[in-house]
Amino acid sequence: MKKTLKLKPSVIKTIKIVGILIAAVIAIFVFYHQEKTALKQLGYTDAAISNIFKKWKVGEVKEIKENKTVNAAFESASYKDENLSVYQKVKYQNQKHLIQNINTLTSKKYKPSEISMILEHGNDLDVTNFAKRKKVKYLEQFFSVSYAKLKNYDRYVDYYDKEREDAETTVLRVNMDFDKEDYTDYLEISDFNENVLVNKHRQLTSEYVPKNLKNVPADLVKTKGDKIQVVSKVLTAFKLMKEAAEKEDRHLLINSGYRSYQDQEEITATYLDIYGQKYVDNYVAKAGFSEHQTGMSIDIASADTDVFLESDEYDWLMENAYLYGFILRYPKSKEEITGYKCEAWHYRYVGKKIAKYIHDNNITYDEYYIEFLDTE
Ligand code: DAL
Ligand code: ZN
Repeated sequence: MKKTLKLKPSVIKTIKIVGILIAAVIAIFVFYHQEKTALKQLGYTDAAISNIFKKWKVGEVKEIKENKTVNAAFESASYKDENLSVYQKVKYQNQKHLIQNINTLTSKKYKPSEISMILEHGNDLDVTNFAKRKKVKYLEQFFSVSYAKLKNYDRYVDYYDKEREDAETTVLRVNMDFDKEDYTDYLEISDFNENVLVNKHRQLTSEYVPKNLKNVPADLVKTKGDKIQVVSKVLTAFKLMKEAAEKEDRHLLINSGYRSYQDQEEITATYLDIYGQKYVDNYVAKAGFSEHQTGMSIDIASADTDVFLESDEYDWLMENAYLYGFILRYPKSKEEITGYKCEAWHYRYVGKKIAKYIHDNNITYDEYYIEFLDTE
């Protein structure tokens, strides 16, 4: 005879409850896993996802979809629930105190679009400092200029008050240190590259010597016996330019190239002796402030005459030098900007692309650099 197992009703009840509990745990686990995968696919990190769950924000975040600022917010201990819609609208920047700064700027009544603008125009430290101050008045005006710098805000306002230039000119001039005296409160250039800008506000160290210096062959040197060196790529470009000029019966030579800090000190002292301070201010850079120390500049001469301004080579260069990557560094019409009187012979190698832009837009290297290359 078959014997059936007869369980007590209370045991059956317990088994049912346990079964329901196990099913619920499995369901929760499956749900969690699915939601986690969905958030991962949207680009959220494990650290952020764990906080998204803790704060019961899965649904909202899934609706927001992919968003790097929101991810950073959930990763951060500074996350504030009431600012979630702000995080969503602020353009992400890889900055250490991003979320803290967004919170502070929001508390100062900046709109998300303004916060994005602020974050874009400085590094973490600049933004942190800016966030500490009272809400500023002219944010939009100055920071719609792409290369405006947060840390220069007060200088823009001061310069604008004095000069009444438009916002773009104000930003350009202040970034070029037009509000500072020549050779005072200047930048000491630390990260050198071949595009470096050297002028009366930017100094190379006395030890700086460019890499890849090459001797200029004697047949390219104007004054017999002069030993001239330039950076290798400058020599290559000059040779190509000289070849092209020769075809049109123009004969280019080099008068000066790389000059060490000590060379420039001697030159300055000699010119000061002979011509005096005003001449030196107009034509000769102080040691460390000369582009010649970069090895990227050359003084060009004509093989036919010593009066370069009257030479055919001068005219030829004015029309053609940019095609070979050279720019006239101190043009007549730009003396106010470069800080030097016109030097018809001083050419800077910047490469063809930059040279063409500068030529086509009739600007100086100072302006080009500030607009496109300045990362300080
Ligand atoms: N003559 C230019 C400005 C120099 O001394 O570097
Ligand atoms: Zn020169």
